[in-house]
Amino acid sequence: MEAPRVEIKVRDNGPYKVTGPVRLVDAEGGVFEIPEGRAIALCRCGHSQRKPFCDAAHRAAGFEDCARAERSPAGRGSAAGVGPEGESRARASG
Ligand code: FES
Repeated sequence: MEAPRVEIKVRDNGPYKVTGPVRLVDAEGGVFEIPEGRAIALCRCGHSQRKPFCDAAHRAAGFEDCARAERSPAGRGSAAGVGPEGESRARASG
């Protein structure tokens, strides 16, 4: 049987919607357990008063970002070359 997968969806101009099962661990080791099929919204604008959770403050802040993955012919996105790992790979090779 295949293990349930976590999905992280980037919402346009808003939070990351994370659908469990997932464990979110704070800096002191406290755990938020998110069961399979349940979802949370994590702030990515920096304006929430309930970090790490979104409290919809992104709307009043006018946060704008509509990230899109590069699409392969199979329709799947790719993060190759994006983010810290991708950046360090690009530096190492070039
Ligand atoms: S993304 Fe919603 S408050 Fe930051």
